[in-house]
Amino acid sequence: MQQSSDTSVTSRLKAFADSKSRTITTAVDADYGLISKQLAGLIEGESDRIANLANCSALLWQELPDINWVGFYLLKRKKLVLGPFQGKPACTRIEMGCGVCGTAASMGKTVIVADVHQFPGHIACDAASKSEIVVPIIKDGRLIAVLDIDSPTPDRFDHRDQQGLEALLRVLLPQL
Ligand code: SME
Repeated sequence: MQQSSDTSVTSRLKAFADSKSRTITTAVDADYGLISKQLAGLIEGESDRIANLANCSALLWQELPDINWVGFYLLKRKKLVLGPFQGKPACTRIEMGCGVCGTAASMGKTVIVADVHQFPGHIACDAASKSEIVVPIIKDGRLIAVLDIDSPTPDRFDHRDQQGLEALLRVLLPQL
């Protein structure tokens, strides 16, 4: 009895320490303010959409901890088509309303998925992916693309990532 109680306390303490450690790591490592400044420098004077999306995906790949895919799907003829990305090869076309990308695109709102295996219709491109965030990119009131980021860690993304990424995309938007 005593042993089981100790084990329980120990495992709860460990879970608490793990959650704090991950929270602190994420907060410290993902400095979205700094990433936005770096992006502003990279895209300054460049008006080519693909060039700017390519450098943005490379920058996020370099700066964000604990991710296994980052890239863009571009809206073309009412479908999302694979754009510049970093990570393993991915599916090339996603229907609006399908998967996490198509859902965020249809809603015009950021979608955070803590466990992709629980998301109905999730499209698996890399079996390592456990959690995901998709941020729509809207220009002049119209959806033009989504930013998609996958992580091998469950529950990797939170509201700070959402706010940071939405702010980052506001920096990118005038150059798209
Ligand atoms: N998981 C996405 C598909 C794109 S890959 O993650 C790169 C989705 O469900 O829409």
